[in-house]
Amino acid sequence: MKALILVGSSDKQSHSLALGNKIGELLESKVDSVEVMNLADTEIPLYNRAIEREASYSNKVKEFLEQSVEADIIVWVTPIYHNSFSGTLKNALDWQHKTKFDGKVLGLASNGGNRSPQAVDQLMLVARSQGYITVPKRVCTQESDYDENLNLTDENILSRTNDFVEQLVSLANKIR
Ligand SMILES: Cc1cc2nc3c(=O)[nH]c(=O)nc-3n(C[C@H](O)[C@H](O)[C@H](O)COP(=O)(O)O)c2cc1C
Repeated sequence: MKALILVGSSDKQSHSLALGNKIGELLESKVDSVEVMNLADTEIPLYNRAIEREASYSNKVKEFLEQSVEADIIVWVTPIYHNSFSGTLKNALDWQHKTKFDGKVLGLASNGGNRSPQAVDQLMLVARSQGYITVPKRVCTQESDYDENLNLTDENILSRTNDFVEQLVSLANKIR
């Protein structure tokens, strides 16, 4: 089983990236492979429908789409930007417009805004449009849940993150 974690922060010192890495670390012993993709580093261009129509994708986009299709479990991790999820994440998801994810398991996580669920709630709608089965547990952190080295230290959130990962793997196993 393969897991792909997409992180949508535009900050090199990102709490969302730290959260994505933590989720990846917890998944590692439970699945065959885990990839944490920091979208800010992938150089995926702005979505372009003409390119999609002609299927003349750049290698970066092609690679991204192939990895997306191969994954059984996908996690979206986003910072809270303007009471919502980030444009970086949305741009990557727009490239997946022609890709089918029916039956794949998705987990949602965010950082920012006093642990606000605004972004993950909004991402539920995006997930529906892509055909994912979304696990009910989500992880929403705030900056004070991390230490100065961006280690996730809040005990309640750590426990929740464990439960989140268990749900992802358990649902993916049931579907297989
Ligand atoms: C463009 C932008 C918009 C933001 N909008 C909000 C917001 O609406 N509400 C909020 O609580 N924080 C907002 N923030 C603060 C971020 O949520 C906060 O800095 C968070 O820790 C970023 O996560 P990261 O470290 O993973 O990048 C915003 C930050 C940026 C850069």
